[in-house]
Amino acid sequence: MAENPSHSNIDIESTESSWSNLRYQSGFGNNFSSEAKPGALPGDQNNPLLCPYGLYAEQISGTPFTAPRRLNQRSWLYRIKPSVTHEPFHPRSPPHHRLVGDFNTSTSSTTPTQLRWKPADAPDSPTDFVDGLYSVCGAGSSFLRHGFAIHMYTANKSMDGAFCNADGDFLIVPQEGRLWITTECGKLQVSPGEIIVLPQGFRFSINLPDGPSRGYVAEIFGTHFQLPDLGPIGANGLAGERDFLSPIAWFEDRIHPGYTIVQKFGGELFTAKQDFSPFNVVAWHGNYVPYKFDLNKFCPFNTVLIDHGDPSINTVLTAPTDKPGVALLDFVIFPPRWLVAEHTFRPPYYHRNCMSEFMGLIYGQYEAKADGFLPGGASLHSCMTPHGPDTKTYEATIAHGEDAGPSRIRGTMAFMFESSLIPRVCQWSLESPHLDPDYYQCWIGLKSHFSCNETDAPIKGNSVLRV
Ligand SMILES: [Fe+2]
Repeated sequence: MAENPSHSNIDIESTESSWSNLRYQSGFGNNFSSEAKPGALPGDQNNPLLCPYGLYAEQISGTPFTAPRRLNQRSWLYRIKPSVTHEPFHPRSPPHHRLVGDFNTSTSSTTPTQLRWKPADAPDSPTDFVDGLYSVCGAGSSFLRHGFAIHMYTANKSMDGAFCNADGDFLIVPQEGRLWITTECGKLQVSPGEIIVLPQGFRFSINLPDGPSRGYVAEIFGTHFQLPDLGPIGANGLAGERDFLSPIAWFEDRIHPGYTIVQKFGGELFTAKQDFSPFNVVAWHGNYVPYKFDLNKFCPFNTVLIDHGDPSINTVLTAPTDKPGVALLDFVIFPPRWLVAEHTFRPPYYHRNCMSEFMGLIYGQYEAKADGFLPGGASLHSCMTPHGPDTKTYEATIAHGEDAGPSRIRGTMAFMFESSLIPRVCQWSLESPHLDPDYYQCWIGLKSHFSCNETDAPIKGNSVLRV
């Protein structure tokens, strides 16, 4: 720190401190109440003739009014001016050419090839979260309220206005750089290693205190994330309800001529002007709220004797379809943990999956890939496309033989967006300079260990198939 800090330094420090020390409300799916001024929440009803402090009452519905009660999500916002107070929407100029909300033959392609991308570079010109966001792949349609999109972002500039996604919920996985996110419900700081869900329709603005920033976004159309059922695991484990954090009410009463709201609607961007900050909600209550989660608080379960748990054991959040056990999109992580299985191939097994798997790496090294899969990079293994550990990982694992003792995976956090829908891939992602054309090479070296002579087999005992 400078000996005689300037006023701007003091401002930076106080801003840093205020974001790092934000208070939150704890719990997944709770009905929260929060007021930034005492008495701002109407006590006896949602929509009184006159609200405290002269506020406007406004409901935001995240499910149809008549959705079953256990699924119903809505919040009541009490604000200085209602969000309807703006000029008409117009297509944003310039348009955004790399966002897709309807995946079809005119917007995307399909391929069963294993795809892997190297990390994207920071933008070389000022780029905020909205301009730096680009679709990679997806399925379905935001118009039909069924499907998903997977985006990535690289940005280096804080947003001037507010963004509103009318198409679906964003699950943001920052990989580099913290996000200071102001929402209508309050503020959240989200660091790499944490995730945030910004539900459909909320207005938010993202500042980038660390400069160049990068990350992943899963967007789901027509449903919301839930915690997975735990089945025989019992009442505890995986992501715990109390580790999900929602903001407390925060508002600014700020006249701001020309304030711009950017709305994503059907994958296209529209803008509208208003003369005040949209972050003018003095109090709110309800269960439709942004929330964040620290992935390091995940309580992993896995095998303690033989074989390999399916990756579903590490599901943090799931967005269901109407079919039991079939996800529109699962968010699964591969966190630090102990590996202790005996006479078992411990890395992820080779497989083909009726689900499609998009993977990212937040930090460290992924256990199935010795190299080539880098933090900030991504891979896509679509429906029934074979994949698994690369040659180096396979050979190193076999070389350990039966003597491998307990080992701890440290300092890594990989994740997967897994969907029952088959993703189509955006053309710019297939033509990206970051696409690794040699990805397939990581498996080409896998050699046959087969021997008709049992005594020549590299592994003896009950691991050898007897013919
Ligand atoms: Fe897989």
